[in-house]
Amino acid sequence: MNMDQLKRQAAARALEEVRDGMQLGLGTGSTAKHFVELLGERVRAGLKIIGVPTSEATRDDAMRCGVPLTTLDEIDHLDITVDGADEIDPALNLIKGGGGALLREKIVAAASDRMIVIADDTKWVPTLGRFPLPVEVIPFGLGATRRAIEKAFAECGVSGQMAVRKTKDGHVFVTDGGHWIVDAQLGRIVDPPGLAKALSTIPGVVEHGLFIGLASSAVLAGGEGIRVIER
Ligand code: A5P
Repeated sequence: MNMDQLKRQAAARALEEVRDGMQLGLGTGSTAKHFVELLGERVRAGLKIIGVPTSEATRDDAMRCGVPLTTLDEIDHLDITVDGADEIDPALNLIKGGGGALLREKIVAAASDRMIVIADDTKWVPTLGRFPLPVEVIPFGLGATRRAIEKAFAECGVSGQMAVRKTKDGHVFVTDGGHWIVDAQLGRIVDPPGLAKALSTIPGVVEHGLFIGLASSAVLAGGEGIRVIER
């Protein structure tokens, strides 16, 4: 089975948790896209749900698949958010934001009763940090913000190269919120909750890709089958 089939399997397993009448957060990325497509099939077969997309890309996918959408201004909570991740550790802490949607993803996950993470099992790691940590920043004063981020890294026992994310054609990547992303190659994040807290206090940091205590369960699809890990 190839990677894409594994991602679809994980998405299909998460879909089993969805019931009529639910309000759902819709994640971003290639795995979450499978979930939106499968959800669309169920909607066309009569399932009544409403979704909040975590990016403009997911909004487009959901509309194309016939999934009805709303916003967090119109409803007061979400039942479940289903989203992918770049790394998942045994405490179900995550690195997210490889696709650049971390800010909306975190707002939506935090507004949800449950967050189900769907992934192929290559995303499962003993320690977060091999995947570069995305930090969403305001372009103004970026030099000062970068120095403050470096200081936070040092205080939390990590260090590594940082680079402003670029698109394939060499332009600065701009998020749906109009911000930039700095990707930090940290290798091994020894204290994810401590680093998350330290980054959150920096004025030029809008959000970071450490999702601490947000995921309720992870559905991991691999060659041996599907594993569901609950927090
Ligand atoms: C989007 O910003 C990310 O958080 C994605 O959820 C994450 O990068 C996983 O994406 P894939 O499912 O494409 O690996």
